[in-house]
Amino acid sequence: MTQPGHKIVMGVTGSIAATKSVELARLLAGACHDLHIIQTEASRHFVGEAALAAASGHPVASDLFDSSDTFAHLELARADLLVVAPATANTIAKMAAGMADNLLLATYLAAECPAIIYPAMNHRMWNHAAVRENVRLLGQRGVTVVPPETGELACGETGAGRLPEPAAIFCRIQELLGEKITGDLAGMRLLVTAGATREPIDAVRFISNRSSGKMGFAIAEAAYMRGAAVILIAANCSLPRRPGIRYVDVSTAAGLMAALESDIDNCDVLIMAAAVSDYMVSGKQTMGKLERKSKINLQLEKTDDIVSRLGMNNTSGLKVGFAAEYGRDKLERARQKLRQKKLDMIVFNDISRSDIGFESDENEITILTGSGRDVFVGKTSKAECAHRILDLVAAKG
Ligand code: CTP
Repeated sequence: MTQPGHKIVMGVTGSIAATKSVELARLLAGACHDLHIIQTEASRHFVGEAALAAASGHPVASDLFDSSDTFAHLELARADLLVVAPATANTIAKMAAGMADNLLLATYLAAECPAIIYPAMNHRMWNHAAVRENVRLLGQRGVTVVPPETGELACGETGAGRLPEPAAIFCRIQELLGEKITGDLAGMRLLVTAGATREPIDAVRFISNRSSGKMGFAIAEAAYMRGAAVILIAANCSLPRRPGIRYVDVSTAAGLMAALESDIDNCDVLIMAAAVSDYMVSGKQTMGKLERKSKINLQLEKTDDIVSRLGMNNTSGLKVGFAAEYGRDKLERARQKLRQKKLDMIVFNDISRSDIGFESDENEITILTGSGRDVFVGKTSKAECAHRILDLVAAKG
C-alpha cells in the first residue's frame, strides 16, 4: 500500500462523466492519499456530495465564500497534485482565462503544484477551435491535458470525448506522483489475450468475429493496477493503451499461438479472453484480391485449440478461459469446456443478450471454477467484472 503523504486536490466539474469520479476517488483514497474533492455547482447534477465525501474520506468543498473559512482555496492549493476529472469546456476556458469565480478555479490559480486535467465532453465541443486553443494554452503553461478517449459518448454519438476509465486515470496519477503500484497481485506475472483473430481469405478479406477486446483490456488494466506484471497479446484491437503494460500485437490464430509460446514460460497466470477463429482457409491464400464470381468455394480447416495445447511451465500456473455461449444448456457447455480444455476457471457469458458482451462496456458473467463453486457477477462494467475474476485469481494464486 502506498505511504500516506500525497495531498491530492481533485476537481469534479459538470460533465455526465462525473459519475465516474466516485470510483476514481475510491481508488485514490484507497491508495492512502489525502484526497480533497472540490465539486462545482454544475457537477451536482451528475454526482452527489455524500458519495464523493464517503469515497474520499473528507467533506467535499464547493463554496468559495464559506464564512467559516475565507482562505479555504489557499489551504487547498498547498497540494502535491491538482487533478480535474472530468474537466468541462467551461472549466477549461475559465482556467485558460485565469478566472476565479468558484473554489476550484481560485484553488487552481493559487496552486503551485503540477496539474493534470481530463477533458470530457461531446466530440464537436472537444473539436471546437476555442476549446483547442484553451487546451493548447493550458498545455503551454505546464498543465498536463490528457485527451479524451474515442468511443460512444453519453449523448449516443461517437467520437473523441469520453473520460478514460478511473483505473487508467488512477495509474497515470500514481506514475505522476512517482508511486509504485502495489496490490494483492504484486509479484504475479499475467499473460492476457484479447480481441478477435483474423484468418485471411485473400489480401483484403478475412474470417473473424465480433470480439472488440474490451474484456481482455479491462483485465490487463485491473491486474496492472493490482500490482501484477502484465503482457497483453492483442488480436486486432483498436483500444486505448496505457504505459506499464507490455502489448504484443498479433493477427491470426497462428500468430497468437506463436506469441503465447514465446511468453508462456515466464508467466504464472494465463487469461484467454481472445476470441480465436475456429477455422482458417486451407492451403495457400492468394495474396491478391479474389474476383467476384457467381460462386466461390472456400475450404476451411480447424485452427489449433490454443488454450488446450499450451502447456504451462509453472506447475502451479493458472489457466483461465472464456466461453461465450447461447441457447439451451449454455452453462453446461461452458462447464464442459472447463473440463475438456483442462482450465482452472472459465468465464461464461450469454451472447444471446444484446445489452452485454460484444463491443459493449458492460458484461454479466458467471465464473466457473473447478471446485464447482460458481460466482455470478450481475450486469456491471467490464472493469468490475475484471476485478471479480482477479479476486479469484488472487485467492488461488
Ligand atoms: N480457444 C483457443 N483456441 C481456439 C478456440 C478457442 O484457445 N482455437 C479458447 C478461447 O480463447 C476461450 C476458450 O478456448 O478461452 C473457449 O473458446 P470457444 O470459442 O468457446 O471454444 P471452442 O473450443 O472454439 O468451442 P465452440 O465450438 O463453442 O466454438
